[in-house]
Amino acid sequence: MNFNLKNKNVIVSASSKGIGFSAVKLFLEEGANVTMLSSNRKNLDIAVNKLSNYQDRVHTIICDINNYDDIKKAVKSAEDKFGSTDVLVNNCGGPKPGYFDQLNEDDWLNGYYQVLMSAVRFTREVLPGMKKKNNGRIINVTSLSVKQPVDNLLLSNTFRSALTAFTKSLSNDISKYNITLNNVAPGYTHTERLDELAEIRAESSGKSKDEIFSEMASGIPLKRIGAPEEIASMIVFLASEQGGYVNGTTIQVDGGVIKSTY
Ligand SMILES: NC(=O)c1ccc[n+]([C@@H]2O[C@H](COP(=O)([O-])OP(=O)(O)OC[C@H]3O[C@@H](n4cnc5c(N)ncnc54)[C@H](OP(=O)(O)O)[C@@H]3O)[C@@H](O)[C@H]2O)c1
Repeated sequence: MNFNLKNKNVIVSASSKGIGFSAVKLFLEEGANVTMLSSNRKNLDIAVNKLSNYQDRVHTIICDINNYDDIKKAVKSAEDKFGSTDVLVNNCGGPKPGYFDQLNEDDWLNGYYQVLMSAVRFTREVLPGMKKKNNGRIINVTSLSVKQPVDNLLLSNTFRSALTAFTKSLSNDISKYNITLNNVAPGYTHTERLDELAEIRAESSGKSKDEIFSEMASGIPLKRIGAPEEIASMIVFLASEQGGYVNGTTIQVDGGVIKSTY
């Protein structure tokens, strides 16, 4: 299937690793120009070395997505390099895990900037160009936690739900410009983030990391943890011409782990 993404200009925030990196790779395979962002030059260099076939279509920028000046500079640099943005993928690192008693004021503010405000700010920076073109796609990577709160992930549960509401509200407002906004909500996906969470659960429960992974898989109807490429495929579909009538919604890619019917 031709997704018609050739020469489209894509920004994927937080993309040196994991789901973000897999999305970058898939967009490049589809012929897009891609700007990759991360807060860490070494991680970006490692990532871009894995993309040597596409050097002329990848642009890397150091950007701490918690910092609005960095976001403004990153979008400007991406648009100076390739032209105005066609597709924005708002990703972020996972917010700090913890129950209410384990999270202080700074943790809450960091979670707010990292999960909600980063997406609001990137969106604000790319929207004028998308409105001018009368075309655009914005896709936020959220989490299964928006459908079913995850124990110990209070910041994720809270701010991703806020981002879900933001996406729906904004889509009602700007769909008339032929801009679609959607959320992709991953379930358990094998990335470094999941390794970290498994390690924390292993420490607190006295179990091994392998046992924690087996437990996670056993609770998933498909009986396996997802691959980052499986989340990236949904992101790319939503960015494509074929995905053009999907709008203002949240799509779970979770192996069926959420038990509710909606
Ligand atoms: N994996 C799962 O099972 C799962 C399930 C549900 C939801 N999610 C959510 O999906 C998102 C992606 O997950 P993942 O597993 O792919 O995470 P990951 O493997 O930990 O990758 C996170 C990415 O975010 C970047 N990043 C972190 N802080 C940043 C900052 N301040 N500025 C810019 N970039 C930053 C990291 O790069 P640098 O360190 O180089 O900056 C890295 O490229 C997360 O929000 C996660 O909570 C994941």
